Amino acid sequence: MYPIKIRAIEWTGKSVRWLNTNLLPHQEVYEESSDYERIARAIETMEIRGAPAIGVAAAFAVAAAVANANTSSVEELRLLGLRAVERLGKTRPTAYNLFWALDRIKRVLQREYIGVDDLKKAVVEEALKIYNEDVETNIRIGEIGEKLIEDGDTILTHCNAGALATSAFGTALAVIRVAWYKGKKIKVIATETRPVLQGARLTVWELKKEGIPVTLITDNMVGYVMYKKMVNKVIVGADRVLGDGHVINKIGTYTIAIAAKRHGIPFYVAAPTSTFDLRSRVEDVKIEERNPDEVRKVLNKVYITLEDVDVFNPSFDITPPDLVTGIITEKGVVTQPYEENIRKLFL
Ligand code: MRU
Repeated sequence: MYPIKIRAIEWTGKSVRWLNTNLLPHQEVYEESSDYERIARAIETMEIRGAPAIGVAAAFAVAAAVANANTSSVEELRLLGLRAVERLGKTRPTAYNLFWALDRIKRVLQREYIGVDDLKKAVVEEALKIYNEDVETNIRIGEIGEKLIEDGDTILTHCNAGALATSAFGTALAVIRVAWYKGKKIKVIATETRPVLQGARLTVWELKKEGIPVTLITDNMVGYVMYKKMVNKVIVGADRVLGDGHVINKIGTYTIAIAAKRHGIPFYVAAPTSTFDLRSRVEDVKIEERNPDEVRKVLNKVYITLEDVDVFNPSFDITPPDLVTGIITEKGVVTQPYEENIRKLFL
């Protein structure tokens, strides 16, 4: 029903194919591998990034490892699959979809099988199911979230919660896409998103491809554009949503939420239920700290400061539930009181 113009991750039948997001927007390079170690490194180095995309890629990586293994022993194959699960689970610590997807694959690996072919088939099928569910879920988020968007709205988004962060359609950008396809004349303000520049490099590229008007700002311009009444709504994605409504997303999200509250601008989070972690408390969540050179340099190339300066480089921050107007999921929009309403989502 909706055109799907970008497929950042695909299963080729035996291997995983992905668009290397580190090279965007200047080069569109697809990589392909059936080696789970190579795919794990692609996640670590952010060739593949964004919470749902990481989960799908990890599931495909285990599927590739198992499907290509040369053994007639079910036990050996199971162990190989479990080793791949363990390795992929160590790639990035914050996005919940990674652990959610690997858990599903692990449960399939642990079932009883008569022969290796049955085990291979079951793992590949589960990975494809995770992928297809992600596409459907994203479209549903778009359709549900679109109803919150009014004709003429300017929407501010942060980082990239689009097709390049999912299997095809995005979460925050799915809402924007569907609103646009339905003829709403919307505009987007994309934040640059230091230090990895997902907003400048990926969101701008993705929205331009759709023909959706987009204006790029640096992260420190958010308060001013809100003060100037240039923004009607904020929609961001999430790497993890806790049972009490805390939202963990790209560093800078919290600051945007505070500014939105100050200016009375609705602040929405778009996330599939696969991003919801109902078990962890906020103090238990590991916030990834990445290589300090991401901050010392621009695009991993030019030093913009002294090479030995101390750096703090958390990749994500935590937005408390009282700053969140609503969380758009494939099952509906969740609003306060979050603890109670999130629980209802999973009944
Ligand atoms: O470090 P990244 O690029 O993987 O971070 C991505 C984000 O923070 C996204 O907003 C989030 O994963 C949601 S993607 C639909």
